[in-house]
Parts: sequence; C-alpha cells; structure tokens
Amino acid sequence: MASCSSLVLVAVILLLSTNTRGVFSSYGEKEVLSLKKLQWSQRSSKTSFLSQKSRTENGATILEMRHRDCFSGIISDWNQRLQNWLQADRIRVKSIQAQIKILASGKTEAHSQTRIPIASGVNLHTLNYIVPVTVGGRNMTVIVDTGSDLTWVQCQPCKLCYNQPEPIFDPSLSSSYHSIPCKSSACQSLQFATGNSGLCGGDAGTCKYDVSYGDGSYTRGVLGSDRLILGTIPVENFVFGCGRNNRGLFGAASGLMGLGRSDLSLISQTSDVFGGVFSYCLPTTDVGSSGSLILGGDASVYKNSTPFSYTRMVPNPQLVTFYFLNLTGITVGGVATQAPSFGKAGILIDSGTVITRLPPSIYEAVKTEFLKQFSGYPTAPSFSILDTCFNLSSYDEVDVPTVKMQFEGDAELTVDVTGIVYIAKSDASQVCLALASLTFEDEIGIIGNYQQKNTRVIYDTKESKLGFAKESCSFY
Ligand SMILES: *[C@@H]1O[C@H](CO)[C@@H](O)[C@H](O)[C@H]1NC(C)=O
Ligand SMILES: *[C@@H]1O[C@H](CO)[C@@H](O)[C@H](O)[C@H]1NC(C)=O
Ligand SMILES: *[C@@H]1O[C@H](CO)[C@@H](O)[C@H](O)[C@H]1NC(C)=O
Repeated sequence: MASCSSLVLVAVILLLSTNTRGVFSSYGEKEVLSLKKLQWSQRSSKTSFLSQKSRTENGATILEMRHRDCFSGIISDWNQRLQNWLQADRIRVKSIQAQIKILASGKTEAHSQTRIPIASGVNLHTLNYIVPVTVGGRNMTVIVDTGSDLTWVQCQPCKLCYNQPEPIFDPSLSSSYHSIPCKSSACQSLQFATGNSGLCGGDAGTCKYDVSYGDGSYTRGVLGSDRLILGTIPVENFVFGCGRNNRGLFGAASGLMGLGRSDLSLISQTSDVFGGVFSYCLPTTDVGSSGSLILGGDASVYKNSTPFSYTRMVPNPQLVTFYFLNLTGITVGGVATQAPSFGKAGILIDSGTVITRLPPSIYEAVKTEFLKQFSGYPTAPSFSILDTCFNLSSYDEVDVPTVKMQFEGDAELTVDVTGIVYIAKSDASQVCLALASLTFEDEIGIIGNYQQKNTRVIYDTKESKLGFAKESCSFY
C-alpha cells in the first residue's frame, strides 16, 4: 500500500562535483558541472509514503520533505515527462498572471466564471514537494504550496476522490473533528483565501468550500477542524477543507498544505505555536535526496553553510496570498546585468512554479551575459519555454557561470549550479538555461523552485522578511 513504483534518476542528471570551484578568471565566476552519463532506470521505491520522518528540535518542528517522483504507473518516456513538466509550469504561470490581472482590476466577483482562486495551487502537477502530517490521529502525506492558503485532505464520505495510497480520512472516526458553521469567521475567510466564498450547506449549516484550479483540477467539500500534529507538536482545532469531491493532478498525496499569507493558511493558524516563521530547503530529484520544511524554532536548527541575508517582503494588499520581494539585480559570473525593470515591481517567490520567470528586459540582459560567458558550445533548439539551449552531448563537464539574484537590503540568492541549467534530453544533447521570459514587461516575475534548490529559504511573516542561505538539503 505504502509503496509505489517510481522512476528514479540513477546516475544523476547533474552531478555537482563536491569541490566546487568558485573561480574568478577573465571569464568570470564559474562552477564546474559534471554531465555524467545520463541513465534513467526503474526501481520500486518503498520510501515514498508513510515513511517520511519528522522530529522536534529546539522548539522547531522539522518535517522531511521529498520530491514527489512517485506517480501511478511507470513513466516510459522521460523526455516526454521533462516536456510535460514545463507544459504544466506554463499553465500554472498563465493562471497566476490571470489571477493577478483580475485582482488588480478589483473585480473579483464579476469574474466568477473564470473560477480562478486567489490561492494559486494552480496546476498541482508542478507542486512537487510532499511532507508528512497527522490529522485527527491519521498520518498522511500532503503537497506543500506557498502559493495557496487552504489546507485540505480527501475526506469520507467521498463523492469523488482520486486514488491515494493512504486510507482516506474519515471524520466520523475522529472524536476531535468538528464541522465549521457557515456563519463563522473561518467560513468568511474563504473568499479571501480561495476566491470563492463559503456557502451554507444543507440543514446542518456547515460551511461548504470550493477551490477550482485553472487547469480543471478542483477540491470541494466542507470546512472542518481537528487536531493537527506537525512532528510532535499538536495544533488544536486546525481549520482545513474536508474534500469530498476532488479531481486533478494531485499525484497520490492525500491533500495539500497551504503556506500562503492569509488568515486561513497553516502559518497564520499556527502563529502562536511557531511564531509565523517557516523555512524550507528544497532537495534535488536525485535518488534518496530529502530536504526539510521547518516550522518555528531558533536559528540553531538550520544547517546553512553561508550566513543568512534578509530582504523585506513587499506588501501587496490585492494579492494577500503571495509572497512578494523586490528584485534589484542579477549577476551572471560576477557581472551585474542592467535592465530597467530591476527594483520596479515585486517579484513573487513560489514553491509551486518550477522555472523562474523574468520580465523580458531582465531576461534578455541575463541571457545575453550568459551567452557571452558560456560561449563556444554548440547550440540546440529551444525546449518548451526555454529558449537558450546547447548540445553538450560530447562534454563530460562544463564550467557554468554562477547566477546570483539580489534583493532590496543586500540580500542575495546564489542559485545552486543544478538550478542554472535544465537537462531537456537525458543524453545532454539539449541542455538549456533554466530561466524563462514573461511575455510583457508589466507581468509579475516569479522565482521558481528550480532556482531555490539547496538553499534554506526562511519566511518570517511576523517581521515580514525573507532570508536566504546556502544549505546542502538533507533531513538528517
Ligand atoms: C504516525 O507517525 C508517527 C510518527 O512518525 C508514528 O510514531 C506513528 O506510529 C504513526 N501512526 C500510525 C497509526 O501509523
Ligand atoms: C526596491 O529596492 C530599491 C533599492 O533599495 C529601491 O530603490 C526601490 O524603490 C525598491 N522598489 C520598490 C518597489 O519598493
Ligand atoms: C549533438 O552533438 C552530437 C556530437 O557533436 C551530435 O552527434 C548530435 O547529432 C547532436 N545532436 C543534435 C540533436 O544536434
């Protein structure tokens, strides 16, 4: 039950040599990337569900975070899969941009036919990170999303539930479960958190919710509360969606954890326990790699190898769910790029978008500098949203210019070398710069999860700041 077959990338796409050279030369700052022979193999993994660990340390709850490479069925065509990921990513970003437009126009209700929630969560296929939690005494695995607020799990009695390996939560078997009345403030918060207001359901007066995602995925059900256990820390009367009608690309996870900013989000609901602080270190897709989601606690629990640098979260009253930052610059190989849009508009940081999207002027500047420094390699056709590609099939290793993003307050995100290029073909005949351009200069940029790997990202919602430091992600 708990096992699922998964395809595991064995001789890792990108093998970062352990003694990374951060060298300065006339060609700028570079890191060596070993393009080992690419091999994808199949094996049955028993580690994916119900075996993810958690622990409590110095007041922090540490949940093991894994990449969700566990899907129903065997994937026979990895090249197709790599393409599909980016296709799903394109849909997610399109939906986020559409939401932003609707919200910025201030006409939320008028657009109910689009049914795009304020909560992004859009196209959950791209939400690749899962953690263990306990709801009403039941252990389950849920997807993590910083771009949405409502936490939900599939619930009995199901009208329509997708297959999940874990037993579906049955509230009637939990003595600590309570349904939430539709006249409650929690029910009223739904409008803000999901874009759809809560409705009174049946004669019991329970609060019905409906979250519809841009790609046709949705979850519908009733709001309930129960004891949530995160690691060993109990949170009483946690409000979540008891989903009785759920459809979409949720993989085999039992539900979703919403880490957005509004009142209903897990972070807001647990703020007296965890102080409104959480952080993650997103692992790569390598075999056995794990990362962690840490709730609360003091700084001693982090294993960062560089000091944290913090930047202000830029308030955006119209988009309460998302976390916005002020991107002030990007350096490529130590060279600062110039573009008019730096420091102008907010860029949002999202755990669910894969590839970072930049306004066209910034993207062009970064691409031009990258091409200047990463020259002499044969080019390859573009791949989905990625337009700067190379055929590296005859190379064992290459020197990749470092990419660093700067934010207001001198904060800096040094992109891990595995996050700078995307291996589009498993034989390295198509390797692309893993950044993409937005269509219009005034669209909102997004920092995707591909560029956040092996970095501790701290969200401090109390002090409204976000911090970055390098960390080699591992739960242990
Ligand atoms: C749930 O998980 C906890 C912590 O990993 C474990 O101690 C407990 O035995 C599990 N409970 C069940 C019912 O599997
Ligand atoms: C972003 O930060 C820069 C540098 O501190 C500042 O000049 C600019 O006004 C900020 N932009 C916004 C939108 O806050
Ligand atoms: C990539 O380069 C290799 C070796 O130079 C060549 O044999 C192959 O045809 C190229 N592939 C593509 C898709 O261009």
